This record gives sequence, structure tokens and C-alpha cells, in this order.
Amino acid sequence: MTKNTVVSGVRATGDLHLGNYLGALKQWVQFVKNENDAEFLFFVADLHAITTPYEANELADNTRQITAAYIASGIDIEKVSLFAQSAVPEHTYLQWLFTSVTPLGWLNRMTQFKEKAGKKRDNASLGLYSYPVLQAADVLLYKATHVPVGEDQKQHIELSREIAGAFNHRYQQDFFPLPEPMILKEGARIMSLRDGTEKMSKSAASDMTRINLTDDADTIAQKIKKARTDPEPVPSSFEDMEARPEAKNLITIYSSLAEVSRESVMSKYGGKQFSEFKGALADLAIEKLGPITAKMNELMADKAQIDAILNKGAARAREIAGPVLEDSKRLMGFWS
Ligand code: TRP
Repeated sequence: MTKNTVVSGVRATGDLHLGNYLGALKQWVQFVKNENDAEFLFFVADLHAITTPYEANELADNTRQITAAYIASGIDIEKVSLFAQSAVPEHTYLQWLFTSVTPLGWLNRMTQFKEKAGKKRDNASLGLYSYPVLQAADVLLYKATHVPVGEDQKQHIELSREIAGAFNHRYQQDFFPLPEPMILKEGARIMSLRDGTEKMSKSAASDMTRINLTDDADTIAQKIKKARTDPEPVPSSFEDMEARPEAKNLITIYSSLAEVSRESVMSKYGGKQFSEFKGALADLAIEKLGPITAKMNELMADKAQIDAILNKGAARAREIAGPVLEDSKRLMGFWS
């Protein structure tokens, strides 16, 4: 059996928060720990970041900040190649090759495009429209076997499989493996601290809705103390919890940070006042996030060190990507 190749990316937007940490970073760290024989490639999708409004003078630092967050969360850089997507030009080259086997009809189904383009679809950029084709190239360029992503990216990975299939069929070779999505745990879906029905998001107007990975201990404590709850005590059963989104969210955050089940959180705090539970949650969040924030700050203060890690990752990525792109071109009949 050939070894597994695990590939994933995260868009280069700044201000990572607790939702990103519990929903992606922490699970990534765990995958890497548990798997000793895979090739891991993890990139910051900066080419994807420019498909929505962004600040040119923040882009490079966003890439560094995400890299710092992964390292600070415990990603083993001996096992994982971390790099900027834009540093590996083979991504965009393969994307172009793929545009010729991707019917418009497939792209028209993409829900993320529809959401982001909104009503004025004619004003949406070609970049936003072809975003999923670049994503397919991101994955297939390394002949990825597994792609860990959130539920919202499942459709894009399915499209990657279709593009791989279309290419293999068109050129009569079993060339690209069909990548398997590995869907990250739904239990780690973290909601806003002010509205338990909205996802925690960096774009929410109020900073009190989220815990940023750059927040200091006092800020974390304040935000948890002020988090919205209802007048009832902490729920002690699943039924009770399900009907109360803000309470459910705080229990979920506690259980993910402490790595214990939600039942055990409820058996400890169920029936108690929220003030007491929030105190314990704040202490726990500070204990878990404090070292990550400190490490991120340390890394961000020495950009040369992060850049060296990104360069090393890009060099490894290009070692794999180069031959795959060459073989793809050869199959397609290009001069070389
Ligand atoms: N589109 C993904 C997101 O929004 C990021 C991404 C880009 C990605 N390329 C990828 C994820 C390839 C997995 C594999 O989060």
C-alpha cells in the first residue's frame, strides 16, 4: 500500500478565534499525532483569500499569523510541510489545466459561490467562481488521499473527486486518486458568545462575540463573564441543553477544551449557577489558550523564523508537485 497523503488548507484571513482553534487547528494537531506514516501538507490558501475583499498590506502577515497559530497549537513541523499556496505556482498551473475538464454546470451548483456572490451574480469575480477548481488543484497536485475539512467544504471536495474522475476518464489513465474528505467533528462547532444560533465569526461586528487567539487572560475572562445565558441554572440533561443554544455553546466549549464529554460537564455543573460555571470555564480557557497566545506572539516577533518554516514547507511541496504537474502535462499531450 502506498502511503497516505493528507492535504488541507485554510483561507488566509487574520484574527483566528476559538472556533477556528477547536473546529480545525486542534483536530489537525491530533490527526498528525495519531498518524506516523503519512505525508502531511498544510497550506495557507492566500490565492483563495483574494477572491473576497482583503487588505493587500495584511495578506503576508495573515499567512504568517495562521502559520504561527498552527505551530503554537502543537503542529509538529518535522512531520508537516506548512507553506503559502502562492509560493507553489504549480497550484495555479494545474488549476488552468483543470478548467478544460470542468463543465460550468458543476460550478453553478456550488453553494459557497452562490452565498458569497449574493444577488448580483454578474458582479462576482471569475476568481470567486473558479475558486473550487483551484481547490481541486490544491488537493490533486499532491495526489492527496485524505482531506480534513469542515462540513461546509464537503461539496468542494466532492467536486475535486469529480474533476479527478473527469481528468482520468478524458486521458484514459488512473492518474489522480479520488480524495476522501475527512469531516471534522460537528461537536466542535463553536457559536457566538452573544447568540447561540450564530457561528463564532471574525466578521461579527462585536468583538465580545468571540475569543480571539490573541486575547489576553483578562479579556478572555471578561468575554466569558459577559457571554449571554438565560436565567435558568446550567442544564443537567441533553434535552434541557438542546433547547438552550447559549448554554449548549458554553458546555460545548468547556467539553472541547477539557477533552471530556458534555455529559460529564453537565454532571459536574448541571443545576449550578452560571456565574460559577463561567468562572470555571474562564480559568480553563485561560489555562489552555494562554500558552498558545504566548507562543504565537513569540513567533510573530521573529518573522524570519516563520518565513524559514514556510520556505522549507514550500520546497518540500514543490518536490511533490513538480513531477505530478509534469506527468499531467505529458498525459495531456503538451510539448516538453
Ligand atoms: N476553501 C477552504 C475553506 O474555505 C480552504 C481551502 C482551499 C482548502 N484549498 C483547500 C481546504 C484544499 C482543503 C483542501 O476553508
